[in-house]
Amino acid sequence: MFPNTRLRRTRMHDWSRRLIQENYISSSDLILPIFIKEGKNVIEEIKSMPDVYKYSIDTLKKKIKEAIKYKIPAVALFPEINNNKKNETGSEALNKNNLICNAVREIKRSFGNSIGVICDVALDPYTSHGHDGIVKKNIVDNDETIKILIEQSLNQAEAGCDILAPSDMMDGRIGEIRKSLEKNNYKNIQLLSYAAKYASNFYGPFRNAVGSQSKLKSDKKNYQMDFKNSNEALREIGMDINEGADMVIVKPALTYLDIISKAKQEFNIPIVAYNVSGEYSMIKNAIKNNILPEDAVNEMMISFKRAGANSVITYFAMELARKLDN
Ligand code: PBG
Repeated sequence: MFPNTRLRRTRMHDWSRRLIQENYISSSDLILPIFIKEGKNVIEEIKSMPDVYKYSIDTLKKKIKEAIKYKIPAVALFPEINNNKKNETGSEALNKNNLICNAVREIKRSFGNSIGVICDVALDPYTSHGHDGIVKKNIVDNDETIKILIEQSLNQAEAGCDILAPSDMMDGRIGEIRKSLEKNNYKNIQLLSYAAKYASNFYGPFRNAVGSQSKLKSDKKNYQMDFKNSNEALREIGMDINEGADMVIVKPALTYLDIISKAKQEFNIPIVAYNVSGEYSMIKNAIKNNILPEDAVNEMMISFKRAGANSVITYFAMELARKLDN
């Protein structure tokens, strides 16, 4: 009791604050998402996401080199597919020489295991309607979609992808993908499940970036989670762990710290926070307009760690890693 206890004592000096610091962020906590597109010599700014660019496979390699230099452990690749390759079933996802497979092969050929490569498993970059799966009677058909996701997973595994990240939210896909990976001798490919992925308003800038927004006629509420729920997120995570996920994602992150925290208390599995595009652009714009100081980014990252995340997928990864290196 006061005055025996004065919590301000340990806050008085920087050395003392550092001594009692409970949470840390390092480059090893960060996963860098990278947008890729067809063509040569492309470095194209994304209007909805200030300071984020799209790269062609040749320019991508410089970016990967930098990520390795600053000790970022893994990158998550997101392809922007030309419109003429999109169709109802997203068949380009199964092409062995599609953009994502060529990018993965090139990264692995040049950099081997100095960096991990994560590929999304979902059809939205490839479908003409912008949904993550096969649409039947205006609904994304769960079981038909899983069949194609299995093929997409094997295609990306074959190209050399280290971590497959199913982001589609179909029921049962982790188990089915795990089974087919085992059967096809991809025993050590990790599954990073987007287990608790909400139908969020904060994905807007990403959908603009990959061109899925203009295609999307309805919303994704019949497969992504309702943001009014939290118990359901724990059921989703529990199921995916049982089905063979190695790590799980909570997405978005900033408005879902309670979910990260509950998941951490309930499950003994690495949790990845996805600091999504809307969260990025909001903070980035505020910094650019001198409304927030740059340290706000650090504060946000620590909030993910404090809530219980083991790592963070964030568009701030490279600039943070550069700073952490100094
Ligand atoms: C799609 C996918 C989305 C994001 C990652 N993978 C968008 C969506 O569900 O429509 C969003 C990422 C972000 O907003 O940063 N499978």
